[in-house]
Amino acid sequence: MSELSVSHLLGIKDLTPKDISFIFDTADHFKEVINRPIKKVPSLRDITIANLFFENSTRTRLSFELAQKRLSADVVNFSAASSSVKKGETLVDTVNNILAMKVDMVVMRHPLAGAGVYLSKKVDSVIINAGDGAHEHPTQALLDSYSIRQELGEVAGKKVVIVGDILHSRVALSNIYALQKMGAEVKVCGPKTLIPKYIESLGVSVELNLEKALKWCDVANMLRVQNERMDISYFPSTREYVDQYQLNAGVLQKIDKEILIMHPGPINRGVEITSEIADSSNAIILDQVENGVAVRMAVMYLLASKIK
Ligand code: NCD
Repeated sequence: MSELSVSHLLGIKDLTPKDISFIFDTADHFKEVINRPIKKVPSLRDITIANLFFENSTRTRLSFELAQKRLSADVVNFSAASSSVKKGETLVDTVNNILAMKVDMVVMRHPLAGAGVYLSKKVDSVIINAGDGAHEHPTQALLDSYSIRQELGEVAGKKVVIVGDILHSRVALSNIYALQKMGAEVKVCGPKTLIPKYIESLGVSVELNLEKALKWCDVANMLRVQNERMDISYFPSTREYVDQYQLNAGVLQKIDKEILIMHPGPINRGVEITSEIADSSNAIILDQVENGVAVRMAVMYLLASKIK
């Protein structure tokens, strides 16, 4: 394969399994590069990238920025966490201003689902979605599947349960698409109120009991309860949530098998996962962060190679 089938990375939904494998093989190369004493390569010299973050982010923003610097791109950053950019027009104006400065690629996080798709139709630049509302977070899903491949040899045939707030999670949706395209089986687990009604139409099964879900899986991906996206109460109390859905030593003892434990971060220690388990040897949370840089380097490198 010599190039990706897409010109933007708006969602995993648009990628073919071949695209994903191509990104992973390229990330393998960059992972080797970032572990060298001299970590920088000139691959994106003369490419200018704007990071537009209209919503809070720590990991994703730093990871993209580090990946860009390792590739020798020129980088400009724009953060507007509490931005009033709610209307498409304002968003396009902002971006057009930045593009007037000859930006080749835009990495954007935005609270509105579909913001990246909209932008890709309006401006002449490569768009990478770094999270759009509760819709998709494609680079997170790529780094998650890449991390499973690294730990378990391959993604195909693996059983992955995504636990927690599925309803508000862009990580969940992108992971479902990526895992299925790579041949894994996906289950979701959490309080009924946090599981979208349409989920089974995506070929995903539902298990409300955490212990049963863990017994079934090879990998558990624990999600944060996204209180900031909730306008009503979806479960009685945090204590009740912890009681039924927290990943802790107690429930892991009951399942009596080794599973791989993942979390996209930020972790609410003591809520969806205990510190003891988050810091245990079966948890690959920091490996996910490390892989994130290599995977993002691969995505930007492959998309930049399509710029005419
Ligand atoms: C996630 C996000 O922002 O979608 N975090 C991340 O990008 N690593 C998940 C979350 O906020 O819980």
